Amino acid sequence: MLHRTRQVVKTLLGPQVLASIRRWRYDRSAPDPNLPERACHYDFPFVTHEGDVYPCCRSGGGEHHRIGSINDPDLMDKMRRFSEPCSCHGYRLRSARDDERLRGFNIEFSLACQATCSVCCVDAPMWDQEWDRYEELSRLIDEVRPETLIVQGGEVLVQKESMRWLRDVKQRHPEIQLNLVTNGNVPIAWVDKVEELFSVVTVSFVGFQPETYENNMGLRVEHAKAFTEELLRRGSVAVAPKYLITPTAIHEINPFLKWALDLSPPQIHFFDAQTVQRIGGNTEDPFWKETIERTSRKLKSTLVRRREELQNNPTVIYLEPPVDELLGIDDRFLADQKLDQLCRRYTELVWHMPEWEPNSRSAD
Ligand SMILES: C[S@@+](CC[C@H](N)C(=O)[O-])C[C@H]1O[C@@H](n2cnc3c(N)ncnc32)[C@H](O)[C@@H]1O
Ligand code: SF4
Ligand code: SF4
Repeated sequence: MLHRTRQVVKTLLGPQVLASIRRWRYDRSAPDPNLPERACHYDFPFVTHEGDVYPCCRSGGGEHHRIGSINDPDLMDKMRRFSEPCSCHGYRLRSARDDERLRGFNIEFSLACQATCSVCCVDAPMWDQEWDRYEELSRLIDEVRPETLIVQGGEVLVQKESMRWLRDVKQRHPEIQLNLVTNGNVPIAWVDKVEELFSVVTVSFVGFQPETYENNMGLRVEHAKAFTEELLRRGSVAVAPKYLITPTAIHEINPFLKWALDLSPPQIHFFDAQTVQRIGGNTEDPFWKETIERTSRKLKSTLVRRREELQNNPTVIYLEPPVDELLGIDDRFLADQKLDQLCRRYTELVWHMPEWEPNSRSAD
C-alpha cells in the first residue's frame, strides 16, 4: 500500500520535480566539500547482470542512479548527460566534461558461482537462471572500445561462456586490459588461462582458517591459496589478495595478512562486509569490543614488526573505509609508525590497482 502511494506521488510530481528534490536533499546532506569531484560514471560504470548501467557499483542502485541499459542505442548520450547527485567516502560525482573519455566498464556477467558465501552481496548462491547478454555486451565494447574491463560475477572463472566471450574480446581488441575479481577457488592448472587473459587479478577471501573459510564460502581455502601463490610466483599478472571482514572471521585478518605479506604481492586489500551492522551496530558490547580490540592490536603489531620488510618490498596495503576506523588504523597511528606510505586508506574501488605496472616484478 505504502509502495503504491509512493509510486502515485512520484508520478504526480514528475521527473523534473523529483530531480530537484534529490538535488536539494543532497545539498542539505552537506557532503564534505574537500572530497574530490569526478565523473565517476566515466571511470568504471557498473554494468549489472541485468544489463543496467550505474555510475559505480557502490552508488546505491536507486532508480535515479540508473543511467540506462546496455541495449539503449543512445547509452553514450545518456552517460554524457548524467548528473545525479552522489557522494561517498572517496568522491562527489559531477557530470562529464566534453573532452572526457570513458575508461572502462565494471561488468557483473551471470551470478553463477561455485561458492556459497553467507555474506554474498549479489545473492549468487540463490542464482538459478540462464544468462546470455554476450552479444549486447559485444556491441557495446565494439562501439566504445574502452581501455579496461573489470569483470566479476558470480564467479567468472567457472562460467564457460563468460570465459569464451572474454577470449573473443581479447582476440578482437588485444589492447583492452582485462581485470578479474575472483574467489580463486579453481584447479591450479587453470592458472595458464588466467594468465593468458588477465592483467590484474583480485582474489577475495572471506575467512582464512580452513574451517571458517569453508563455513563462510563453502569452499576450501587451500585451493584459493595455491591459486594465488602460483599466479604470484609466475609474476606476469598483478595479484591482490583481498580480505573481506565479517563478524565470524574478523580475527583471522592477522594470519591472512602474514600469509599475504610473505608473498610480496603488489597490493593487499581489506574490505568490510557491513560488520558493525551485522553485530547489531553495538561495538561497545563487551564481547565485540574485546574481539575487535584484540584483532586491532594484533594487526598493528604485525604491521609494525614487518615495517622494514614492507619498506623494501613492493607491497602496498589498502584499507577500504570503514576498515580503517573499525580496526583503529588511523592517520596518526600510520604516521607515528612511519607506515603511511605502506598502508593507506583507499578511496577507489579496491580492484583498480592504479599504481601497478605490468612486469614490474620479476618471476622467481
Ligand atoms: C560479488 S563478488 C564477485 C566476484 C567473485 N565471486 C569474488 O567473490 O571475488 C565481488 C566482490 O564483492 C565482495 N563482496 C561479496 N559480498 C560482499 C558484501 N556483503 N559486502 C562487501 N563486499 C562483498 C567479494 O568479496 C568480492 O571481492
Ligand atoms: S564513487 Fe562514490 S560518488 Fe562516485 S558514483 Fe560511486 S558512490 Fe557515487
Ligand atoms: S564467491 Fe563471490 S559471487 Fe560467489 S558467493 Fe562468494 S562473494 Fe558471491
